[in-house]
Amino acid sequence: MRRYVFAPDGDRFRLDLQQVADPQPGAGEVLVRVKACSLNYRDLIMVRNERKLPISGLVPISDGAGEIVAVGAGVRERTVGERVAADFFRRWPHGCFSKSAMDSAQGGAVDGMLAELVALPANAVVPIPEHLSFSEAATLPCAGLTAWNALVTRGNLSAGQTVLVLGSGGVSVFALQIAHALKATVIATTSTPTKVSKLTALGATYVIDTRARVDWEVAVHELTNKRGVDHVVEVGGVGSLERSIKAVAHAGHIALIGVLAGTQPPTNLFSLAHKNVNVSGIYVGSAEHFAAMNRFLSAHKIKPIVDREFGFVDAAKAYDHLASGTHMGKVVITIP
Ligand SMILES: NC(=O)c1ccc[n+]([C@@H]2O[C@H](COP(=O)([O-])OP(=O)(O)OC[C@H]3O[C@@H](n4cnc5c(N)ncnc54)[C@H](OP(=O)(O)O)[C@@H]3O)[C@@H](O)[C@H]2O)c1
Repeated sequence: MRRYVFAPDGDRFRLDLQQVADPQPGAGEVLVRVKACSLNYRDLIMVRNERKLPISGLVPISDGAGEIVAVGAGVRERTVGERVAADFFRRWPHGCFSKSAMDSAQGGAVDGMLAELVALPANAVVPIPEHLSFSEAATLPCAGLTAWNALVTRGNLSAGQTVLVLGSGGVSVFALQIAHALKATVIATTSTPTKVSKLTALGATYVIDTRARVDWEVAVHELTNKRGVDHVVEVGGVGSLERSIKAVAHAGHIALIGVLAGTQPPTNLFSLAHKNVNVSGIYVGSAEHFAAMNRFLSAHKIKPIVDREFGFVDAAKAYDHLASGTHMGKVVITIP
């Protein structure tokens, strides 16, 4: 079978395509024929070597969906022919997060999904919703589940509340779709004027063009009668956190997720206490969370937004497209 691996290339990594023997499922494992993978901003962090992790030789990409083609000894919960996606973590089936789970993050700590065949623990794969294609389902494990846990599992989002989503990347678009389905009012920001109408079409009640409104947190207050929003899906990090704290309502919730604009927090976080704000650190989710999200997506017939698909041999071009920031939603690599 063919697979990609990270190969050192100066101070970063490139993707090398290899031909290797087919993996076999061990006891408690399933063998998945991968049909599609999706990219996340994290995959750019990896290939750019921004975290200086020992990933040389690892298979990239956390997110993939495909079909089970074999099961190992002792596997009862999964069967050959099932359409599944892999959880982001190989060792977080349910319950609380742990160091062991963290050390099982695909495409960073352990091998990922950019391969034709992958052997995975049976309890680390989740059946995918029937109404989704493999490409659509491949977008769920990281971006979809992060948005779900930010707003639902940890945020307890309810109808009538207001949600602020920043930008039009994978996590933010999923958060918009989930919040809209739950009858929340969604305020989206974008730095790309041509995306305004697309975000509106997906259900955003208001879209703030951050090029025209650099003071977008003030715009949020104008749109909410000076109250602020109940939830912020915070994907920016250092470049936006201080503004997000201003944009959130008293007793509101900020889901800390991303680092699009850097990893250092602002120096003064006291206003979080002053406003009685709840802050949740979110790192994707478990297979149990994933299954719960899939039930919701099925009930609401939510379809992920796939911006563009690339073929397996064009994987590097898919990375370039994500890096361009021109996408809306998800970038997918299909595997024949
Ligand atoms: N903690 C977790 O579990 C977790 C999970 C998934 C992702 N993340 C993190 O969350 C962030 C988003 O990931 P993603 O995969 O959704 O990214 P993505 O798809 O690459 O999103 C890129 C989009 O975000 C917008 N953007 C760019 N810079 C921004 C900034 N400084 N502030 C606000 N928006 C900005 C742009 O949209 P416009 O053109 O509309 O402005 C851009 O097109 C990343 O930092 C990623 O590492 C964390």
